[in-house]
Amino acid sequence: MSETHETPEAHETPEAHGTPRARGASEAHETPATRESQEAAQEPAAVARELDAADPLAAIRDRFTLDDTVYLDGNSLGALPRTVPARIADVIAREWGELRIRSWTESGWWTAPERIGDKIAPLLGAAPGRIVVGDSTSVNLFKAVVGGVRMAGKGCTEILVDVTTFPTDGYIARSAARMTGLAVRPVEPARIADEVTERTALALVNHVDYRTGRLHDLPAITAALHSAGALAVWDLCHSAGALPVGLDAHGVDLAVGCTYKYLNGGPGSPAYLYVRESLQERFDSPLPGWNSHADPFGMETAYAPADGIVRGRVGTPDILSLLALDAALDVWDGVTIEDVRAKSLALTDFFLDRVAAYAPPGRVRPVTPQEHRRRGSQVSLECAGAGEVMAELIRRGVVGDFRRPDVLRFGFTPLYTSFADAERAARVLGEVLRELPEPVAGAGG
Ligand SMILES: Cc1ncc(COP(=O)(O)O)c(C=O)c1O
Repeated sequence: MSETHETPEAHETPEAHGTPRARGASEAHETPATRESQEAAQEPAAVARELDAADPLAAIRDRFTLDDTVYLDGNSLGALPRTVPARIADVIAREWGELRIRSWTESGWWTAPERIGDKIAPLLGAAPGRIVVGDSTSVNLFKAVVGGVRMAGKGCTEILVDVTTFPTDGYIARSAARMTGLAVRPVEPARIADEVTERTALALVNHVDYRTGRLHDLPAITAALHSAGALAVWDLCHSAGALPVGLDAHGVDLAVGCTYKYLNGGPGSPAYLYVRESLQERFDSPLPGWNSHADPFGMETAYAPADGIVRGRVGTPDILSLLALDAALDVWDGVTIEDVRAKSLALTDFFLDRVAAYAPPGRVRPVTPQEHRRRGSQVSLECAGAGEVMAELIRRGVVGDFRRPDVLRFGFTPLYTSFADAERAARVLGEVLRELPEPVAGAGG
């Protein structure tokens, strides 16, 4: 099951059922313990207000549709940007309803995959012409891994895969290895420099670990792979839109990522593929659909790839999702990824600090690194009975998610998450942990 669809708990959100308790802990779950902890929390709440008042990104929150819920699941599904509904209504009513097939040219539908790729590019440190949008991350992983193996030197026998990878990457890499006659070797990302050999075609690494929120050293790992003659293929799902990536600057060869997390493109919005400019001419896609043909309307029997990143395309793009993403990316107008990163670290620092203050001692253990250079934009806490704890948090208006068996995940999207949100989430977590009986080890569940 995919991460976005994994848990019924994550789906049974108060928003989905419209229960009154979704309106927030303070009004919906008033207990003596709550009141006491609110008094004790007054000072940190004031600190949070000050931090919000000084936050240069605070006003960006108004570009999203949000309510009183503390939404900390943007690392799974980003919130809805206000620009999207009107744009989609226009695409449906006018571009499709009135212009119909003319929209492929007159509304720019045909070139949308490259145009929207160029819109994402600055967030990933890529120049125009290096990113194409379309298909799912899984499909783009297939293109990147098989395409990478086809560009690797003869005599390569293996693909290295991040041992902690999101599962789909491993599944695709194993299938790609079977098809190309290579073997997959799982490797701890921090050990890639020691493990890579002249027989390694490429390494596929998650930039930020989906479970722990650990950030891997993209520049150093990419350089180590290059010095052994291997290619670096990065999965940016949990870093794109949350921190600077520097794809061009660090010489990354191939990269993929989704757009429904920190890029807020909507459920199932299309993913993207990055191919380094100097490799594009050699990129031989394993899915050479007609959209990537040099002359797609020539309807030729023989395949001839288009120049540039267009050869990363496959078939007819999913225009409604693609244009919802296009509109969603407008929220980045005037926002720098450096400002986003600075706020992300400040938010996660503040949340970790508040969790340490509010949670009963020893009840949760952060598995997200403390060091900024190793932290993505989420905080993961190991917690016995995490499923029940998250279900109760959601009932009290704090939405994160949990990963089996025992990890609570809280994603911080700096574009719309406030310090007050972080403080309230930690405070409600402290209340829940005090009120729910701690599961007895080995008692099942
Ligand atoms: C790191 C990572 N890679 C890949 C995927 C899968 O993406 P898709 O379902 O778009 O193929 C996800 C989904 O959440 C992910 O977190």
